[in-house]
Amino acid sequence: MCRWWSSENVAVVTGSNRGIGLEIARQLASHGLTVVLTARNVDAGLETVTSLRHQEGLKVDFHQLDVTDSSSIKEFGCWIKQTFGGLDVLVNNAGVNYNLGSDNSVEFAETVVSTNYHGTKNMIKAMIPLMRPSPQGARIVNVSSRLGRVYGRRNRLANVELRDQLSNLDSLTEELIDRTVSTFIDQTFTDYSISKLAVNAYTRLIAKELWTRQEGEKIYVNSFCPGWVKTAMTGFAGNMPPEDAADTGVWLSLILSEETVTENSLQRDVRLTSERFVAIL
Ligand SMILES: NC(=O)c1ccc[n+]([C@@H]2O[C@H](COP(=O)([O-])OP(=O)(O)OC[C@H]3O[C@@H](n4cnc5c(N)ncnc54)[C@H](OP(=O)(O)O)[C@@H]3O)[C@@H](O)[C@H]2O)c1
Repeated sequence: MCRWWSSENVAVVTGSNRGIGLEIARQLASHGLTVVLTARNVDAGLETVTSLRHQEGLKVDFHQLDVTDSSSIKEFGCWIKQTFGGLDVLVNNAGVNYNLGSDNSVEFAETVVSTNYHGTKNMIKAMIPLMRPSPQGARIVNVSSRLGRVYGRRNRLANVELRDQLSNLDSLTEELIDRTVSTFIDQTFTDYSISKLAVNAYTRLIAKELWTRQEGEKIYVNSFCPGWVKTAMTGFAGNMPPEDAADTGVWLSLILSEETVTENSLQRDVRLTSERFVAIL
């Protein structure tokens, strides 16, 4: 991978006090970027940052960020602008899932959608004006899931026409994604896959818009599935540690666009292995 970055480049990772987000933050900092670790809980975030700084010698800053709270997002944006003048890489990792056991509810479903989809979308909208122009382009990486594939079974979208509209960039709109999410939110046990389907669809939509900007102003937007990972979200089940799961996110944050981006692949899910895929390259 061609090294275009230095410690002047700033990467922000949401929900990075633990799990996959922490590993993405650690690995980006190990590559030499300045990383802003964020967490909704200040104590949890500061404890993690202290350990990364003092035990591993990494250049990591901290700021509180709750992706479901518009005032928290706004305050974070002001702080990033004031402290660094902007950012180069945004990793939308924060997520929740209550589809474990049999205790799901509409309230849980609403939290899942507002965190995984609306939180990601609101962060993207708030950070776009703060992303610094550069010849290699800024990056947004969304941590998604293979459970969110439009043609996957887990979302139980029976309407073939709707699936086709969602997967076709010509018919895809933000309004269609929002309507799909609000229509299917109370479908038992599909809230997580619907939220990630929405993340993938929004990734395609915004990727197209930001990629067609003029040279120097481009922002490359991708989403990926980390696989089935041993974190709190899975009750530490899974078949890989967060250290391994983080590497696709790090790769998408750093790879040069001309090495990966082709127009055709914009509309496809490109599988890397049976467990992991990159939705947009
Ligand atoms: N683990 C897997 O097998 C798997 C598979 C596919 C995709 N993913 C995705 O990977 C991402 C990371 O998950 P993980 O497995 O690392 O789970 P995790 O250990 O539970 O970490 C989730 C992180 O998101 C944070 N978070 C939750 N709600 C938030 C909010 N409103 N604002 C800011 N941060 C918030 C959590 O903060 P708190 O500590 O405060 O709760 C935590 O730091 C998620 O998007 C998940 O959907 C995971």
